[in-house]
Amino acid sequence: MTSPAKKEYILITGASSGIGRALAAEGASRGHNLFLVALPHDGLDDYVKEIKEKHKVEVKYSTIDLTQREAPQKIYEEAATAGIRVGTLINNAGMGHAGNFHEMTHEQLDSMVHLNLRALTHFTHLFIRDMVARNEGHILNVGSLGAYTPVAYKSVYLASKSYVYYFTGALREEYGDTNLQFSVLMPAAVATSKKVKQRVKDSGIMGKFTLLTPEYVARYTFDKMEKGKFTIMPGLASRAIFSISKWVPSGVLLKVTQRVFNKSN
Ligand SMILES: NC(=O)c1ccc[n+]([C@@H]2O[C@H](COP(=O)([O-])OP(=O)(O)OC[C@H]3O[C@@H](n4cnc5c(N)ncnc54)[C@H](OP(=O)(O)O)[C@@H]3O)[C@@H](O)[C@H]2O)c1
Repeated sequence: MTSPAKKEYILITGASSGIGRALAAEGASRGHNLFLVALPHDGLDDYVKEIKEKHKVEVKYSTIDLTQREAPQKIYEEAATAGIRVGTLINNAGMGHAGNFHEMTHEQLDSMVHLNLRALTHFTHLFIRDMVARNEGHILNVGSLGAYTPVAYKSVYLASKSYVYYFTGALREEYGDTNLQFSVLMPAAVATSKKVKQRVKDSGIMGKFTLLTPEYVARYTFDKMEKGKFTIMPGLASRAIFSISKWVPSGVLLKVTQRVFNKSN
């Protein structure tokens, strides 16, 4: 990640709530212009005004449903028309799910696949071409700590986050001889929406042990991106769990996660 340059923007998807909103505030506080992409929300106008006035940066935003097929292309064209040069792309928008796979509807499955996988892949594909041409740029994709192992009751969601992790790692290798940088954020529990907070509460000690605020996650993420780190895992407890889990036989790990997430169903 380079220092803020004039007319260069950080594009953040899912920026009006949770981790995305905190990343936007943190980026602005470090002097970066922002191009925020979010679902339509009441209060988005006021939030943008507030960041602009507080941090004296340029903030543009576009509201769109990223599960729509043409959404990434529309946003790409909008940025080009507005003269926005995306120096850093943050693919944050994502949706989770907890419950039995057979009880999910096709609509739920489609939305999750379209948002977590297709939108992220298309955004990356659209903006990386300009980054390659300029030989600079940074892409941060938001994964999850749960992406390192199969997890019952979160099958599709965490499999989509495994994709995010391996996809980003592959790009880092593929563009290793360029100035492009890649990072993947792998948080455990982050206190964002009411739904997430309730799931954490229900999941018992493990969720509470790792729980972080979105503001802490955003600060930590920018610190690590500025240092050019690939895997960004906020929280001492999360890093401890990750280190220990490498020594636990996979069958045991599957049973432990199955118990934790069965409780939070
Ligand atoms: N919270 C956690 O414990 C946790 C843990 C690990 C990973 N993550 C990942 O971190 C990212 C942000 O999660 P969060 O908990 O901060 O978010 P959240 O509050 O649950 O909301 C989900 C995010 O995705 C966006 N989004 C949902 N549907 C969308 C759609 N159809 N089109 C465009 N944007 C859409 C939302 O955008 P709006 O702001 O416009 O509503 C929001 O930013 C996600 O990728 C999530 O999987 C979260």
